[in-house]
Amino acid sequence: MTTLVEQGHRFGGAWTELKLDAVHYYLGFFTTVLRTMPFELWYIDAFAGSGSRIEMRETGGLLDGTPIETSSEQMAGSVMRALSVDPPFGRHVFIEGNASRFRELETLRSEYPAKRIECRHGDANTELRSILSSPPWSGPVRERSKLRAVVFLDPYGMNVAWDTLRMLAATRAIDVWYLFPLQAVTRQLSVDLNRVDAYKQDRLDDIFGTSDWRDELYDTRVVTDLFAETISTATRNVTQAQIEEYSRTRLRTLFRYVSEPLPLIADGRGRLFSLFCLSNSSSDRAIDLIEKGVRATLKKFGPASRHRSGR
Ligand SMILES: C[S@@+](CC[C@H](N)C(=O)[O-])C[C@H]1O[C@@H](n2cnc3c(N)ncnc32)[C@H](O)[C@@H]1O
Repeated sequence: MTTLVEQGHRFGGAWTELKLDAVHYYLGFFTTVLRTMPFELWYIDAFAGSGSRIEMRETGGLLDGTPIETSSEQMAGSVMRALSVDPPFGRHVFIEGNASRFRELETLRSEYPAKRIECRHGDANTELRSILSSPPWSGPVRERSKLRAVVFLDPYGMNVAWDTLRMLAATRAIDVWYLFPLQAVTRQLSVDLNRVDAYKQDRLDDIFGTSDWRDELYDTRVVTDLFAETISTATRNVTQAQIEEYSRTRLRTLFRYVSEPLPLIADGRGRLFSLFCLSNSSSDRAIDLIEKGVRATLKKFGPASRHRSGR
């Protein structure tokens, strides 16, 4: 028997649950630690989806001695999980670029009349800029200093602009969970730099916030060909692990704290993403607390992640 779900947001797999479990666990830590402090706590989901996601599951088969069945299950996405955090956030902002997912978010919002929820339809980078350049985030210091937030950047691919990260870091009041698209970036970094077209090079400039990756990740040589012409070759000299380390180094130019990554691995598709927590708080005490929360998160969810990677 096959149950087909025509509607709903289908994406991810077991690694998605791991990612959402990890972020949800940290959100609970964040609101618990800050609940007695005089802050207004915001949760901003910049790639919010529809609120939930559909996972297809296959059961049965030869080993079970039963026919293969495919069924679908509706799982809570990052938005529904954030709405269940206890103690709760004071403000929720959900940004989504897709029109039908945005409509689902609006419906979800109406189901939580007691919560302060704003749904914004548009590009994540543009909407984040608009939020941070409007009151209360752009208000006088005495107002801004009462704000603390967690921003979740959960794109499909290379959608987060470096300027967005710079803007988030500049607030010094926002913890960012960033799903860095390691596999997509590695794929764009062809072994031969000449094969990375101008568009892809621009995208990589924007992901790394610099054009220096050409020198850092490629060996350039000038050679003479058969016709005595000199040609320049640039060959990628780094592994995916080194690309991840380079990305981490780049993030450290914006944020005082860049966590160890939580590797996210999909069956048969290898390492897809690296989940980082970032903070640029100017308070050492706050950074210590964030580090404590992230350490607990990685301790809880790192083993499952390593198990999937076979490490
Ligand atoms: C991986 S899904 C996010 C899933 C969501 N966090 C959840 O757990 O349910 C990425 C979402 O970002 C949206 N999206 C992609 N690019 C976007 C952009 N530039 N601005 C806003 N939303 C975007 C997609 O429509 C999709 O719903």
